[in-house]
Amino acid sequence: MITIALPKGRIADDTLEIFGKIFQTDFEFENRKLVMEKNGFKFLAVRNQDIPTYVKNGAADLGVVGLDVLEENRPDVLRLLDLQIGRCKVCVGVRNEDSLNCTNPDLKIATKMPNITRDYFSSKAIAVSVIKLYGSIELAPLIGLSDAIVDVVETGATMKQNGLKVAETIMESSAYLISNKNSFIIKREEILSLYNKIYKVL
Ligand code: PRP
Repeated sequence: MITIALPKGRIADDTLEIFGKIFQTDFEFENRKLVMEKNGFKFLAVRNQDIPTYVKNGAADLGVVGLDVLEENRPDVLRLLDLQIGRCKVCVGVRNEDSLNCTNPDLKIATKMPNITRDYFSSKAIAVSVIKLYGSIELAPLIGLSDAIVDVVETGATMKQNGLKVAETIMESSAYLISNKNSFIIKREEILSLYNKIYKVL
């Protein structure tokens, strides 16, 4: 049995669709259930940011998670395959009437991704204060909590609806299949067989 952690939401749906294609049967979590067993796989419905924790600790052999989350959490896991789903960008956003003022010696950036944010601005030798938030990041510059944000942009609708624009793009992201390192040794055959099946249907 291989245990696979999936992030709740669209990436999980798209991943289960890939499994559906491979095994010619429907893979779907029952209403509110967090575990599903089918065709020798156990799927776990997990919060996006928690996927690295499940896989790193071996609670799941495999996981599907955005590159943005991997770059932020830097877990000690194997990146097996770009699944080419869940595409988005990590961007710096400012209010429509503003521009990113890099000469401001106390530029405040609100984000749920402090590591990506610090690395990006330090690579450009720009001093910033990072304000860690857990959600509704777009609110911060509107009410003066921060000068700018670093956040995930998928359709761009959230920024647009809140009078924000993309000032800079930090990285492009999509969902990756990751593996626990021990699982990849112990269950190598099963994981590689699954890897090949997924690779074929992408
Ligand atoms: C992300 C992000 C934005 C929104 C962008 O949050 O923080 O708020 O999606 O998407 P859009 O460009 O299509 O409008 P998400 O809904 O993934 O939730 P989270 O804060 O729980 O990660």
